Amino acid sequence: MMPAVSSHTGRRAHLAAQMTPGSVALLATAPATARNSDIDYPYRHDSAFYYLTGFTEPDALLVLVAAKGQTPARAILFCRAKHAEREIWEGFRFGPEAARSHVGVDEAYAIDELDARMAQLLADAPAVYYALGHSAALDAQVAQWLKAVRVQARAGIAAPAIAHDLTSMLDAMRVIKDASEQATMLRAATISGQAHARAMRAAAPGVFEYALEAELLYEFRRNGAQAPAYPSIVAAGANACVLHYSANNAQAQDGDLVLIDAGCELDSYASDITRTFPVNGVFSAPQRQLYELVLAAQAAALAAVVPGLPYSGIHDAAVRVLTAGMLDLGLLARDQVGSVEDAIGARAYQAFYMHGTGHFLGLDVHDAGLYRDVAREGKPSRKLASGMALTVEPGIYVRPGAGVPEQFWNIGIRIEDDVIVHDAGARILSGAAPKTIDEIETMMVQA
Ligand code: GLY
Ligand code: MN
Ligand code: MN
Repeated sequence: MMPAVSSHTGRRAHLAAQMTPGSVALLATAPATARNSDIDYPYRHDSAFYYLTGFTEPDALLVLVAAKGQTPARAILFCRAKHAEREIWEGFRFGPEAARSHVGVDEAYAIDELDARMAQLLADAPAVYYALGHSAALDAQVAQWLKAVRVQARAGIAAPAIAHDLTSMLDAMRVIKDASEQATMLRAATISGQAHARAMRAAAPGVFEYALEAELLYEFRRNGAQAPAYPSIVAAGANACVLHYSANNAQAQDGDLVLIDAGCELDSYASDITRTFPVNGVFSAPQRQLYELVLAAQAAALAAVVPGLPYSGIHDAAVRVLTAGMLDLGLLARDQVGSVEDAIGARAYQAFYMHGTGHFLGLDVHDAGLYRDVAREGKPSRKLASGMALTVEPGIYVRPGAGVPEQFWNIGIRIEDDVIVHDAGARILSGAAPKTIDEIETMMVQA
């Protein structure tokens, strides 16, 4: 397993060292997207581009030329030119000169020069690396640039004969977080944890889901987080059983649980936390039974976060506890599904637990990286390694149905934390969010 690669410069060097000598990598940031006349959607840079540059402006592209013989590797940034008038309307932009030192690249040029310079940059490069097939616009641009090189064939200039996928190389690097990434992720998760606590304190019967969402957004922004890392789920009562609920417009009734899945993005890094709490501040007996079960499943899953153990062991641990609990509580009938082993084998738990127990977390909420060791026979689950960041998020969702004990109907519970794999086990980043029944009920009494 590769260690974390620190700093944008270090990551560029690490990537260039894996490339064929003299070959060229191209990495564009995300395009700005128009919403309607004169208004764009909020801009978010491309995560892989950010990973190598730390640069957040649109209209930028990084070129890496791998070392060859005595010629060292080069990093070249194309970005927006300075523009006095546009900066009055839209704010500061670096321009190539300032961007060169800010990003620490060898050369920087205005993005308008991209087509003119690319034919020269690609001349005689044996291979080109870019995100194959991710963007029709970039695919078309690369085709144009290759054409521009090929027309020089009579002058003895060769175009790259091979295209490699850059995404898979960068994804592999991004899986292991360095100390600075871990520190940012801890800050992001701490802000989000505080936001969950704030929403709990603000809750009372009759509150609208959107009012609790507003509490989350307020806490995110007032602590400097730039945006939610994904659309917040604020789901009262039966809405908690809709896994990707997004309307957030219902009124919580006395006796409801509220499931909130929300996390901020801070300095490009995501957090992703779920908490479930009673809107009136006290868990009912059936809510308590299911909550304790999900909490126990999460504890078992967290205990499986150990370097060297398979990633899939986290889900397996959660499923085992949940399945045993479903049998004990009568959600699953022993005379129909048999033993815990039988029920796991038949995936009977999927009636009430139908998602995975987590995912990688980082620049993206569902972050880059493979969950299987594709180089090994049978593609087994990959092994956990120190520096991986992931979520651990078991849940239980009980829709009304024949044979389903009525006291559990419409209860949906998920408990999701963000963790870093450490040699000593799981280091929880999201501890600022109250989690045990005692912590939640105490927090809500204080409101
Ligand atoms: N909030 C997205 C997820 O939990 O995966
Ligand atoms: Mn998640
Ligand atoms: Mn989540």
